[in-house]
Amino acid sequence: MSNSFFQKDIVSVRDFDKQKFETVFQATDKIIEMNPNERRELVRGKTLGYLFFEPSTRTRLSFEAAMASIGGTSLGISDASSSSAKKGESLADTVKIMSLYSDVLILRHQLDGSSRFAAEISEKPLINAGSGTEEHPTQAILDLYTIRKEKKKIDGLKIGIVGDLKYGRTVYSLLYALSNYNVNVKLISPPSLKIRSDSTYEIRKKLQYTETSDLEENIEDLDVIYVTRIQKERFADIEEYVKVRGSYKIGTELVKKIKDDAIIMHPLPRLDEISPEIDSTKQAKYFKQAQYGKDTRAALLALILNENGI
Ligand code: CP
Repeated sequence: MSNSFFQKDIVSVRDFDKQKFETVFQATDKIIEMNPNERRELVRGKTLGYLFFEPSTRTRLSFEAAMASIGGTSLGISDASSSSAKKGESLADTVKIMSLYSDVLILRHQLDGSSRFAAEISEKPLINAGSGTEEHPTQAILDLYTIRKEKKKIDGLKIGIVGDLKYGRTVYSLLYALSNYNVNVKLISPPSLKIRSDSTYEIRKKLQYTETSDLEENIEDLDVIYVTRIQKERFADIEEYVKVRGSYKIGTELVKKIKDDAIIMHPLPRLDEISPEIDSTKQAKYFKQAQYGKDTRAALLALILNENGI
């Protein structure tokens, strides 16, 4: 029987249950432990095609690095303005063409629904690498893996999610993912950047969470402090952005208040919401998190491209 990820799209983390996450986590553990020569046989001769209509550093490069680490190659469009999209070629045609040249596709696009649409068009499995303000499923997978690895568990933790909860797509994927676990979530944001209730209708039935705007009052008992950037590019009115920018800053004084064994995460990029002085503290895990991004994506690609799994 083929593994459940074989030749499947990854469009939404809502399609995952605890067992599916565990399959990726165990595959990631195996990939990390594998001898590099053995690892490079996993997808030898296969090609990853990437289509990025929005900027990226970590997602695109970690997918490329992941593909190389398991023996595959990558090709793609990292800047849509240098592709025929600039001449007016449709997303559908761009996806069709890319699926002729690759074995698996990743897409980042500014429109909600873009990945669902592209997955229907693509002849090859398609992975959502960020769709509008909607979802970033592989970020949620690496986020959960980071928590599991650094805290040795997910169930039972108190998790604070801080910052732009309205526009941050990583937040929605993370909340959908966490709704499979028994966790206590505090959503900490300026009142104008609270999570969108239309997107959280389903998780409200499954996930225990409270909302507040006060970080200092709520930081002391958190096991995980997940900080996000305020997404300037998604504000329709720049004046509204100016009102909330710099709302939260994790600096040395605030870190003195957090639990000794708490972890600080961030999907990155960061602006000024975490001071660089925090990088050397034992609680800072955001660069490790980015490293796990490569490992979890390698596992996902290997599962999608190998009928028998890893
Ligand atoms: N976390 C994340 O998606 O980073 P990039 O925008 O750099 O890909």
